[in-house]
Parts: sequence; C-alpha cells; structure tokens
Amino acid sequence: MDGNGRWAKAKGLPRIAGHREGAESLRAVLKACAEFGVKYLTVYAFSTENWRRPDEEVEFLMELFSNTIDNEIDELMENKVKLHFLGRLDRFSDELRKKMSASTAKTKGNDRITLNVMVNYGGRAEIVDAVNELLSSKKKVTEQDIQDHLYTRNVPDPDLLIRTASEMRVSNFLLWQIAYAELFVTPTLWPDFRRNQLKEAIEDYQKRVRKFGQTEEQVNAG
Ligand code: IPE
Ligand code: MG
Repeated sequence: MDGNGRWAKAKGLPRIAGHREGAESLRAVLKACAEFGVKYLTVYAFSTENWRRPDEEVEFLMELFSNTIDNEIDELMENKVKLHFLGRLDRFSDELRKKMSASTAKTKGNDRITLNVMVNYGGRAEIVDAVNELLSSKKKVTEQDIQDHLYTRNVPDPDLLIRTASEMRVSNFLLWQIAYAELFVTPTLWPDFRRNQLKEAIEDYQKRVRKFGQTEEQVNAG
C-alpha cells in the first residue's frame, strides 16, 4: 500500500492525511475483493524497516491500526471477513497486540474472504523465523518444511502482486511466496487505488498466461 506520503504531499497535506485516506482505500479494496470473489487479500501495512520513520509518524500509524480495528470490526463481521495480523507482533504494545488477537479470534468463523494485514513484517525475517522453528526438529529441510513454517502457512501463494505508486521493487514483501506471482505495477498512489483500479489490475491479470516453467503448448494442452 504505497504512495500515501506522495498523495498527501501533492495536496499540500501532512503525510498522516495520506495514511488516513489509505485506510479508506483498504476498506474499498477489501469490499471489491469480496465482490469479485477473491478469497485472500494480503496487504503490506508496516515493514520491519518502517520503524526508522519519524517517531510521530510511527505513533500515528500505531493509533491508526488501533482505531481502524475498533471502527471496522462490526463491518468485518457483517461482510464475513476473517482477519489476521502477520509479522513479528511482539514489537507492538500489549494493548495493540491484544486488540489484534481479539479481532482475529472474533472473526475466526468468517469464511467469505481472508484479510491478512502484514505488520512489522519482512520477507527475510519471516524466512529466518521459519528456519529457526525448524532447527530444533530437523537436520535437513525441504521446500514444504519452510512453506509450513512461514507466517502464511495457511494462505495459498498469491496469484497477483499489485504494487502501487510506480515502485519497481519488491521491498522485502512475501519473498518466498511470490515465486510465481504475476506482478502489476501501477502509478496510482494507494489512496487513489479503489474498486475500479482493482478491477483493471484483475482484468490485466486475466490476460496473462501462467506457465510455471512449462511451455505454452503444454499449458494449452491442460
Ligand atoms: C505507504 O505509504 C504506507 C506505509 C508504509 C505505512 P508511504 O508512506 O510509504 O508513502 P510514500 O512512499 O512516502 O509516498
Ligand atoms: Mg513508500
């Protein structure tokens, strides 16, 4: 969800106004995903590197996470959204962690769409955590072992990775899981990314031929 700062700057607003508007985009995109039949939406909300931002911006984001959980929980229940927060959660305050785990517990039975919010998340940190879990029990690890110990062990690999604000890099997001994801990079800033922009990305995705290492002829033969 990139480009909140640039969106605000272009309007002569403080960066936090961009984050606030970005939360509205998440609402809109989640709703549209449910409408379009997407079963998993995984969003990058806060990276292991984002702690390096100015203190007041980090503080604002923590409050935004907390307030957004409070304000949205009823609607998440109504729309049957299962909510997960994935990342190194131990870095957050007790209060925020409790709120996160309570919202996960409350939405546990929902089955229309799963929303994974990646917070204090790094793709490398995730792989390191998986390997450390495995070290105690294994001498030799397989791809399946690593897969089964990632934070996303219960989430299928993404089909489509959408990168807003024109950034042509992965920035430590889902390094393992995006091995065969289709990439869609758009200049649209996250606060402007809503239902129509998602529809455009999905329509672009639908035109792709996914070969997973095979030839086009093999794929066409099914
Ligand atoms: C993404 O928008 C939001 C977070 C990382 C929390 P940015 O804040 O990175 O926006 P730009 O890159 O400054 O435009
Ligand atoms: Mg950015």
